[in-house]
Amino acid sequence: NVERRAKDLLAQMTLTEKVGQTVQYGRCEEPELKLVAEGKIGSLLNVHGPKKINELQRLAVEETRLGIPLLIGDDVIHGFRTIFPIPLGEAASWDPEGMEKNARIAAVEAAAQGIRWTFAPMVDITRDPRWGRIAESTGEDVYLSSLAAAAKVRGFQSPNEDGYPTVAACVKHFAGYGWIEGGRDYDTTDMSERTLRETVLPPFYQGIQAGALSVMSAFSELNGVPASGSRYLLRDILKGEWGFDGMVVSDWESIEELIYHGYAEDRKDSALKGLDAGVDMDMHAGVYLDHLEALIQDNPELLKQLDDAVLRILQVKFRLGLFEHPYVSEEAEANGDAPKGQAIPAAHLEQARDSARKSIVLLQNNSGILPLDTGKHKRLALIGPLADDRHNSMGCWAWKGRDEDVITVWDAFQSEIAPKAEVFYEPGSGILEELDGGVKRAVELAKQCDVAVVVVGESEAMTGEHYNVTSITLPSCQESLIQELKRQTDTPVVVVLMNGRPLAAPWLHEFADAVVEAWHLGTTTGYALVDVLTGAHNPSGRLPVTVPRATGQIPMYYNRKNTGRPHLYEDYIDCDDSPLYPFGYGLSYTTFEYTDMMLDRHQISRDEAVHLTVNVTNTGQRAGEETVQLYIRDLVASSTRPVKELKGFRKVQLAPGESQTVHFTLGREELGLLDERLDFTVEPGKFHVWVGPHSEEGLQAEFAVVK
Ligand code: IFM
Repeated sequence: NVERRAKDLLAQMTLTEKVGQTVQYGRCEEPELKLVAEGKIGSLLNVHGPKKINELQRLAVEETRLGIPLLIGDDVIHGFRTIFPIPLGEAASWDPEGMEKNARIAAVEAAAQGIRWTFAPMVDITRDPRWGRIAESTGEDVYLSSLAAAAKVRGFQSPNEDGYPTVAACVKHFAGYGWIEGGRDYDTTDMSERTLRETVLPPFYQGIQAGALSVMSAFSELNGVPASGSRYLLRDILKGEWGFDGMVVSDWESIEELIYHGYAEDRKDSALKGLDAGVDMDMHAGVYLDHLEALIQDNPELLKQLDDAVLRILQVKFRLGLFEHPYVSEEAEANGDAPKGQAIPAAHLEQARDSARKSIVLLQNNSGILPLDTGKHKRLALIGPLADDRHNSMGCWAWKGRDEDVITVWDAFQSEIAPKAEVFYEPGSGILEELDGGVKRAVELAKQCDVAVVVVGESEAMTGEHYNVTSITLPSCQESLIQELKRQTDTPVVVVLMNGRPLAAPWLHEFADAVVEAWHLGTTTGYALVDVLTGAHNPSGRLPVTVPRATGQIPMYYNRKNTGRPHLYEDYIDCDDSPLYPFGYGLSYTTFEYTDMMLDRHQISRDEAVHLTVNVTNTGQRAGEETVQLYIRDLVASSTRPVKELKGFRKVQLAPGESQTVHFTLGREELGLLDERLDFTVEPGKFHVWVGPHSEEGLQAEFAVVK
């Protein structure tokens, strides 16, 4: 039905009207307003407020000949008004269901403001924490990132009350953007076809399988061809092999940038190359607007490509129900987004708090200093530049989040802890610069207290687009604040890290009694952290990335390949080979024991599956949640396989002393690989399988696939 309606409409369109649908602008001032009224713009981003959006929609629907509504997009990345943890933090929850709920809430809030398309989820896997956009990723692993991609697409596109997707999702950036050289944004990527297909593409595929209505082409080049000019990526793989029938939008001016890549001669040539490659909509560059008509007049053959692009765009508009419901309620402004002065719906905040506390990873807890015990810890010092920083608690890409909505750690200390203990606050340092006398004041305060909680890390502007670094460490002023607290006092020091990338700070082993990885947690930061610090929530987050000891170890990821000389030499003469924390790692206030791993068989044929069970017991004193992780290794294969690959996980909630049997199945999908010709196959041979708490620990067994 949608296809038929789109085709009927296409048949009535002039060339100018068709080109208009492929044009998107990232602002709407006088010139763009005029273009909207002339039917020469199909989509806008960065326009805000139901009133404004309705005005624009009225121009498109009532003033243009065919009345085609505009598609209004925006970067709704980890929340709209309610800000959830940054995607990297959210990934640490290993909770796709929670991610889906977060995306759903973000979509509801955005749609209430007239936004029907989000440029999310970003599904770029990356193994380079220097890159600022690692904060927007779901980490280094293909399995976890694929689950996250699908969950977020489902959440964003879940049906609204009229039965249409609440907002259209856009899996981005197709493809390879996370592989950029040196962590330099927009840079070159060069990778084997195997890496592309085994590691980079699967999350996109899963997002599309979940129904994503759109895809964004990347800024970066891949193997010599800029992604926004790549027929291979967009026509052969995406629209051909995968049969994707949604629309492709370029990244901001990435078609025009084909010129700077040395891939197009001028703006006209860039428009030709973009269209030919299969980019259906041009974000902000105006090259389609300025040149497609002339290009088609010169070469009428190109009309087929334009028609295909327009059809895809119209189909998305029909699928979203924009023709039936082009306007957003101006009265309803209060319901989803809660304008200034009105509260965010309680259910949204509750989900944000739940998601935030599940994203927190306990990295170190010497002699059980955590959870804080207000019976013993009567005077608490809260120290650090991020302890009372509303804005930076939200992280990058939180533009619609409002500082005044954020509960900081200091807010929550006062409201949640103060009734039971005395709390004091001293920043001690800025994020990047020392504060005059700050360390001295912090030391004095810590000396008078039973414990010091020190909240340090990065500002929101230290990660995100083009915020890359050469050193993934804590700024030196914050490092010396922590070290002086330890040197000059006997007070236990609990370090809370708020950051958008993994931080290499091995010295924390010596200078901190406990380390809590909190990422940027969003609106309910303070509540979530107090829940974890006091033990109201037993920490359950697990790292979605490997944390290196030093920047020079990058790239460092758990599923590396073995070398020909695995144990002969150290990797580096100046640094331990191991990571600071491995992928999948995270502590709890209780302990778990793994026993009795059993396989139902030790030999299977290629089409059969192995069923595996393991017993997990809570051996500590508190109820807690364990993330039981399953890894495999294909020992000998026609292409070398990683030393470990995550193939499943289960989350189990256990009371003290309680045991549960956890089940996994390993079949074709988990055991297969791409052979020499990159065809998917299951090869006979031995496999190792591990079930355990993280990528470096677990019970091990072996089985074989036979011919
Ligand atoms: O969606 C983003 C993209 O991820 C980076 N460049 C700008 C786009 C629109 O804001």
